[in-house]
Order: sequence, then C-alpha cells, then structure tokens
Amino acid sequence: MWIPSRRQLCWAFLAASLLSVTSFFLHLWKGSFSPKLVFSALCHKQCPGLTKVALFCLPGTPQGPNGSLALHKPAASPEPGIWTIQPEGRFGNQMGQYATLYALAKLNGKQAFILPDMHATLAPVFKVTLPVLDSEVAARMPWHIYPLRDWMEEEYAHLGGQDMLQFTGFPCSWTFYHHLRAEIQREFSLHRHIREDAQAFLHWVRYSRGKGRSLTFVGVHVRRGDYVEVMPKHWRGVVADRAYLEQALAWFRARYPDTVFVVTSNGMKWCQENIDTSRGDVVFAGDGDEVAPGSDFALLTQCNHTVMTIGTFGYWAAYLASGKTVYLANYTLPDSQFLNVFKPQAAFLPEWVGIPADLSPLLH
Ligand SMILES: *[C@@H]1O[C@H](CO)[C@@H](O)[C@H](O)[C@H]1NC(C)=O
Ligand SMILES: *[C@@H]1O[C@H](CO)[C@@H](O)[C@H](O)[C@H]1NC(C)=O
Ligand SMILES: *[C@@H]1O[C@H](CO)[C@@H](O)[C@H](O)[C@H]1NC(C)=O
Repeated sequence: MWIPSRRQLCWAFLAASLLSVTSFFLHLWKGSFSPKLVFSALCHKQCPGLTKVALFCLPGTPQGPNGSLALHKPAASPEPGIWTIQPEGRFGNQMGQYATLYALAKLNGKQAFILPDMHATLAPVFKVTLPVLDSEVAARMPWHIYPLRDWMEEEYAHLGGQDMLQFTGFPCSWTFYHHLRAEIQREFSLHRHIREDAQAFLHWVRYSRGKGRSLTFVGVHVRRGDYVEVMPKHWRGVVADRAYLEQALAWFRARYPDTVFVVTSNGMKWCQENIDTSRGDVVFAGDGDEVAPGSDFALLTQCNHTVMTIGTFGYWAAYLASGKTVYLANYTLPDSQFLNVFKPQAAFLPEWVGIPADLSPLLH
C-alpha cells in the first residue's frame, strides 16, 4: 500500500503538470487531442431495451459481446489530478463507491485515490489496489465536490478538466464499470485466508452430505435489520418476504438436481422461522456481523449462484459470484421516491431473474 506524503504529492503533481503540458503540445502538434472522441463511439445499439430509460451505456456493457473495448483505453499515463470519492454507508455502498471511482478515473485518464475510511472498510477483505490518500492531505485539498447519480451519465465521461475531484453519492450500478468487469473482480478478490475459510465451510457441507457428490451452492442473502422499517416508512416499499424466498429457492431447485442453499442474513432468527427447511437443503451460515461482514460476504461469493433480496451487499455478492442470480423486483410502489435515486435497469444485470415483490402489505 502506498501512502504518499504531502511533499511527494506536491512533487508528483508538479511533475505530472509538466508532463501534461508537454503532452498537450505534442498532441496539438499531432492534431489528435480528443479524449471526447472516445465517447462519440457510444453504444446505444449495444444496449437494446435500455435506451427507453435513457441509460448511458459504455462500450462492452451487456448484449455487446463484440463491444468496442479498445475505444476507450485509458490514457497511457494519467493526466494530472487527484480524484477520490467520499466513503459513505457500509460495506456494499463503499464497494459501489470504490468501483465507480475506479472506472470513472480510468475513463477520464485520472489517478484515483481512496480515503482512509474506505481503505479501512475494504482492505481487510479485498486485495484492493488504489492508493490511499493521507487524511491530512485530503482535508487540505481544494476539492471540487461532485455528486453522482446511481447510473452512468454521459457527462461523467467528460470530467477530464477537473484536477481535484471528490465524488459523493451511493452509486451501485454496473453501468459505470461493467466494461471493466474483470478488473473490478480482481480489485475485489478475497484475501487468501478469507477465501479459504469460506471454502472450508463449503467443503464441510459437501462432506456432511455424502462425500464426492457434486453440489450446486446457492448463496442466499436476506437483508433485514434497519431496512425492515426503512422500506415501508421511508420508501413505500417492502423487503423480501417468505413467499419470495420460497419462489427464489424453487427456481434453483427446478434447475439444479443437488442444490444447497447457504443462507446469510443480519436477521437470522427471521430466516430460521420463515425459510422452509423440510427438504434438508438449507444451511444457515455466517455470523450476520454488520461491522465485519467479510466472512459472510466471502461465503456468498464462493457459492455458484445467488439469491439476493435488497441492498448493495447482496448485489455485490451476486455480481462477483457471477452465476445465475434471482433478485426481488419492483419492491416499491410506482410512485416511490426511491425510484428517483434508483434505476432498477441500471442495477440488475439484464440476465438476472427478477421475481416481483408482493406489495399488498403497503396497500392497507
Ligand atoms: C461477434 O463476432 C462474431 C465473430 O466475429 C460473430 O460471429 C457474432 O455474430 C458477433 N456477435 C454479435 C452480437 O455481433
Ligand atoms: C461451485 O462452487 C464450489 C465452491 O466454491 C466450487 O468448488 C465448484 O467448482 C463450483 N462449481 C462450478 C460448476 O463452478
Ligand atoms: C417491474 O415493473 C415493470 C413496470 O411495471 C415491468 O415492466 C417489469 O416486468 C417488472 N419486473 C418484474 C420482474 O416483474
């Protein structure tokens, strides 16, 4: 981990500025200075079905297997500038902030740094590589604060003029980084001991069910806690109920012969009372620790497929597990303010399978 001192930063900045002035003239001379060209190659055609909601698609997003990735190779050396993002919320939120910063900085040819709080949240679990900005240095920088929406917008591709940018917001959308999926997966690869602990647990499950059987593991994340209150009171929405979980598990049982559901939750008591265990294919696992959720998260990503409910934690587990994903869809009333800050089409991958929520409890 590299933590630059203030002095090093100043020198680096000076050097980078000189370099960029030089390269600017070089580019002028070559007549080819056009970072914006990159985005004239937008791929609306590659995202059929998404244009309706005016989603902005980067080359390489789904449905574009032949996506023009080469079109937005980042600048060979970053332009001057220090970009960061405000760490807010918990684990899943900060994963979204990290991945978004990573992708937007790369897109605009800038060097991304994370703040110490984000490092403290993510680095114990993942092999994240972005350098960490010293908090004293960060506190003195003349940041331009830039709030982000929860989906990619064209203007985010034209921020190259900003040298000291600090994003804010709660982005949790593949539209920012899906073209870099392999890199994002590498950034969020688990530390070895964490992965091994999760694997040891799954081995034990396999062994206890008869050695040598090839099981299909489905990680089930049931978000409870504060959301149980927040969704109906604040957002006119619901959390996953017993019927949703039954349908989601049935979806996998119908497709895979030997399925084991590995359930993690911050409301395990509710899960034990509401998930049907009569078939003997449900294992309650993890510790539901919200402060140090690394082991629960690892279990989910080491499973083959994912059932998510709501929340960014489950989203990230599904995105990284990269198997089949079943999610709770349309879990707010159509007039919910939630839909102003959250675009389902930008959050759930098109190939994921949505099961609509039962909203009837909200109507009484
Ligand atoms: C991608 O490229 C391959 C080979 O060039 C071609 O066969 C295939 O049809 C293309 N797919 C799409 C969606 O354009
Ligand atoms: C399913 O997950 C287990 C545990 O991580 C792994 O050993 C196995 O290879 C996976 N199966 C497939 C088909 O990917
Ligand atoms: C959610 O609602 C939208 C709009 O009514 C609908 O088009 C979509 O199919 C629904 N999603 C699911 C998974 O039912």
